[in-house]
Amino acid sequence: MKNADLQSIRSFLVKLAKDAGEILKSHSGKESFQFKQSPIDLVTRIDKLIEKKIFNELKVKYPEFSFIGEETYDKDLTNLGVGPTFIVDPIDGTTNFIHNFPFSCISIGFTINRKPVVGVIYNPHLNLMLHAVKGRGAYLNDEKFPPVSKSHNNLSLQSSLIALEAGSTRSGDAFDKKMATIRNLLDEEKGFIHGSRSFGASTMNLFYVATGQLDAYWDGGCQSWDVCAGWIILEETGGIVVSGIPNKWEVSVDSRVYLFVRGASERDQKQFVIDFWGHVSGDLFY
Ligand code: IPD
Ligand code: CA
Repeated sequence: MKNADLQSIRSFLVKLAKDAGEILKSHSGKESFQFKQSPIDLVTRIDKLIEKKIFNELKVKYPEFSFIGEETYDKDLTNLGVGPTFIVDPIDGTTNFIHNFPFSCISIGFTINRKPVVGVIYNPHLNLMLHAVKGRGAYLNDEKFPPVSKSHNNLSLQSSLIALEAGSTRSGDAFDKKMATIRNLLDEEKGFIHGSRSFGASTMNLFYVATGQLDAYWDGGCQSWDVCAGWIILEETGGIVVSGIPNKWEVSVDSRVYLFVRGASERDQKQFVIDFWGHVSGDLFY
């Protein structure tokens, strides 16, 4: 697909995200909720309504492309293929949306050959429209992202600020390993990182890694729609994506365990990843 086509897809997605964001904002904090897999895995009628609206508009404009959306995903039937595919989270940060905590976003990614090539994220509460096309840079409200610069230090694990999330799987082996890893990172005798932050929305964690205000984001259990759009936005600011479990430098968008690292020299990024992996407490299976 030509770059011009990707740019026109981006423009269309920006408009879709803007319209959907107005709906999200006007209902934030006003909705009742239902449980999905558990009493902390929540959904509202607005998640479903926004997904339907985005799906309908994409189907008219790009009928030949595939679509994956959180609220219509079926783990036995939905597969990410090599063809052009929209990957949509109608509300990333649904729990924030329910609580009117201003970190809930529309997230629309687009993949070719299973790789993110266009990403659009809109946070209507803070009026942040983030978008990127592969090879064309990342934009924040139509300005190029500010270059990632950290005058106080180079990228290094011990001096880092990292987004870490509890997620919605709160039992079992993967949860134990996740908590053990977080402990390892914080522990004075181990990683002893400067600190951890949780925005409750992968999109917002990725935004702050893309700006360089956070050094990294590590998560397990999230899905392709949580990370697809932010992935290409981060890459276009010089950041990298590797597996959240050790020794996997190549990672697919639906692998469910990720480590995102901000822009820095290749050498520092590589050392950071190796140091980080040294604190991961085994494989996380979801
Ligand atoms: C969640 C958020 C959260 C991540 C979870 C996701 P949702 O998305 O992105 O940051 O840790 O794994 O499920 O459910 O609010 O769309
Ligand atoms: Ca969601």
